Order: sequence, then structure tokens, then C-alpha cells
Amino acid sequence: MVHLEARPLSHQIALRPVCAADSVLLDRWRLEPSVRRHQPLSEASVAQLQADLARQDMADLYLGRGDKFQWIISVGSQPAGWVTLVVTNWAHGLAEIGYALSTPFQRQGIMPVALRDLLTLVFQRTQLRRIEARCSVKNVGSYRVLEKVGFRREGHLRAYFLLEGRAVDNYLYAVLRSDFTGIQGLRI
Ligand SMILES: CC(C)(COP(=O)(O)OP(=O)(O)OC[C@H]1O[C@@H](n2cnc3c(N)ncnc32)[C@H](O)[C@@H]1OP(=O)(O)O)[C@@H](O)C(=O)NCCC(=O)NCCS
Repeated sequence: MVHLEARPLSHQIALRPVCAADSVLLDRWRLEPSVRRHQPLSEASVAQLQADLARQDMADLYLGRGDKFQWIISVGSQPAGWVTLVVTNWAHGLAEIGYALSTPFQRQGIMPVALRDLLTLVFQRTQLRRIEARCSVKNVGSYRVLEKVGFRREGHLRAYFLLEGRAVDNYLYAVLRSDFTGIQGLRI
């Protein structure tokens, strides 16, 4: 648990696009046991992470091109975690998100705020219309967050990914532009 300021938490949470130097943060966070508990994270060196971050250009997202975009979630001045958006098909407006908070920032209501901000940005500024997320059926915190921001459970994916050699069932969740704008009262 970290010490948070007296200001309402939602006012302290912000997203900023990653830069290559964030590879050090991502490397550290990806090694945390709580971050790895429910998701298989591929082995990657700091140099590989840095190269992956360096090829991302947020301008592409708003021009309807490119395939991977990441943001650092900060709480006040402290970097707390990250969100990844992978566009799977621009023609059909399809993308998938992944997300994680470093251990001291978990279970304080931070991720729902960060994901709400991300979906607002995505639905207001891009043509994407369906955002998917997959998580282990055992990752209660993850799917509670998805449900809080308007995702609906659409399926149970049996033996979906391998976590330390064991096949793990996943839930498939998705939120449509119309679901999100309805819930959040956004005019897009
Ligand atoms: C899972 C994760 C994204 C949740 O974000 P968060 O900001 O910690 O979640 P919140 O504090 O808003 O909690 C949301 C709900 O889930 C519950 N919850 C959170 N973590 C939980 C856990 N480990 N076990 C059971 N319930 C949990 C909370 O009690 C809360 O319940 P409520 O809806 O009844 O209020 C975050 O803990 C995390 O990054 N974990 C490690 C990485 C990870 O698993 N990423 C997702 C991969 S799919």
C-alpha cells in the first residue's frame, strides 16, 4: 500500500503515452509475482521492451493505423502501472486491452478509473467500436474491474492460455461503443 494524497483518488489518476525509457519500469513491474500470478507474460529483456516501446507512436492511433499502444498509469507523481491496447482489425474497429498495476497500487480502485479514461479516449478519438479483454477465470479483481467500466462477459474460453505449463480457462469480455457511451452518458 502506498501513501496517497488527500485529494480524491480519481483526480490523481492519469494516463500518459509510454516512452522508450519506461522499459525499465515495465521490466520491474513484469517481474512482480502479483502481476504474473494470473497472466503469462513473455520473457523480454529491457532492450526488447525498449525497442517495442520506441516503435509506438500515439499519433498513429488517432490516424487509424498501427497495432500496439501503451500508456503509463500514474497516481499523483508516482508511476503505478500500465495499459496496453492492441488493435486487431482497423477495418472492423476491433481491439483488445491488457492492464496491470504494480503491487502497492492494487486493490485501491485505481484501475477502474484508468480504464474509464482509456475507453473515453478511445471511443471519442478513434473509430474503434469493440474493445475486448480476456482474463483468467480466477482473476476476480480483473473481471470485477471490467464489469465496473461496462464490459460484458461474452464467453468462457476453456484451456485458453498456459500459465507455468497449466492450461487456464479465461473469460472473454467486450465493451461496445454503444454500451460505454450509454453507461457513462458520453455524447460522441
Ligand atoms: C486485477 C487488477 C487490474 C485490479 O485493479 P485494482 O485497481 O486493483 O482493482 P480495484 O481495487 O478497483 O478492485 C475491483 C474489485 O475487485 C476486487 N479485487 C481486487 N483485487 C482482488 C483480488 N486479488 N482478489 C479478489 N478480489 C479482488 C476488489 O475488492 C473490488 O471489488 P468490488 O467490485 O466489490 O469493489 C490489479 O489488481 C492488477 O493489476 N493485478 C495484477 C495484474 C493483473 O492481474 N492484471 C490483469 C490481467 S487480465
